Amino acid sequence: MTFYLLLKYLHIVCAVVSISGFLLRGLWLIQQSPMLQKHWVKKLPHKIDALLLFSALAMVYLSEQYPFVLDWLTVKVLMLIVYILLGMVALRWGKTRSIRITAWFLAVLCFFFIVSVALTRQPLGYLAG
Ligand code: HEM
Repeated sequence: MTFYLLLKYLHIVCAVVSISGFLLRGLWLIQQSPMLQKHWVKKLPHKIDALLLFSALAMVYLSEQYPFVLDWLTVKVLMLIVYILLGMVALRWGKTRSIRITAWFLAVLCFFFIVSVALTRQPLGYLAG
């Protein structure tokens, strides 16, 4: 297996772990669970997301496919920022429960849009038809 393929698998595993954790935290948000206040529940997602981004940047470097050169990678970077911001509203900044739950739902949609961009290598993902 090449190093690049290893990075790609790492990237995909981190994406799966990231969305699984985010879905679980959304469930805890809806249930108003005290689990959300646990130290490791707050810190672990940042480590997973850092690894997701590290593997992305390493692949960008090795494959010489650059964001702001290739449209689909530009969209991924911009949508990743939107996903992170919506996640912050959902789990930290949102003033009311309904704002938090709406932001959480939009973040999940955003995540699957990023996956569709990755799989199709099209800036609009499966929305391109
Ligand atoms: C939530 C954020 C992200 C998710 C869910 C995600 C998901 C994925 C998935 C599922 C693949 C595999 C596609 C395939 O099987 O061909 C992939 C590949 C890739 N992603 Fe991401 N990605 C994310 C963020 C990023 C970012 C921010 C970048 C760029 C800075 C990036 C760069 C890449 C590259 C270069 C590939 C490899 C394409 C290839 O050579 O086959 N990803 N991503």
